[in-house]
Amino acid sequence: MNEPTENQSLIPLSDLSGDRTYAWTRRETLQLTGGAVTLALAGLPAGTAATQPSPEDATVSTSTVELTINGRPERLDLDPRTSLLDLLREDLQLGGTKKGCNQGACGACTILVDGRRVNACLTLAIMHDGAEITTIEGLAAGEALHPLQAAFIEHDAFQCGYCTSGQIVSGVACIAEGHAGSPDEIRAWMSGNICRCGAYPGIVAAIAEAAGES
Ligand code: FES
Ligand code: FES
Repeated sequence: MNEPTENQSLIPLSDLSGDRTYAWTRRETLQLTGGAVTLALAGLPAGTAATQPSPEDATVSTSTVELTINGRPERLDLDPRTSLLDLLREDLQLGGTKKGCNQGACGACTILVDGRRVNACLTLAIMHDGAEITTIEGLAAGEALHPLQAAFIEHDAFQCGYCTSGQIVSGVACIAEGHAGSPDEIRAWMSGNICRCGAYPGIVAAIAEAAGES
């Protein structure tokens, strides 16, 4: 065996064998063999990298959910992790319901579930088996706009329009709940719907007018 260099911390085994033989220190031996030992214990040949299963590798079982969406019954097999918003937009191509923050802060995704307004981004579709869902696409009666849709146009209650479907659906529920008795009340009960364009005066006026007609 070659003589050790200075920075190789070898110890003589002469005490044991009588020969001038060198061996790695315990620390160096463990450092050098640790990887191989780990692989051996894992049942893998040395040089084989262990691979972690990716989330995509996992088999996802689906769940069946029955919903009535804008009056139309649907029976759907879903990844149980699908949000109600993604079901509507991605699976059913109902793009009127908008994805803004996707975390419950903006109200752009507001829909009605059994008549109650819900942020569709915050809830899983499978939690609503048997529910009736209404989106902005379900408000008009054929060619006839819902009175609140017509009032939004009349009061110029939008600018870019991104928040508008959520505002209108939320406004429909606000009126149905009896929370549209005054501009202040409308503002308070519509506070979960944010408009970055600041079209609030028109939105409040439109809801007040539609509430007066209903
Ligand atoms: Fe759902 Fe903003 S996208 S609250
Ligand atoms: Fe643009 Fe409301 S109209 S965000």
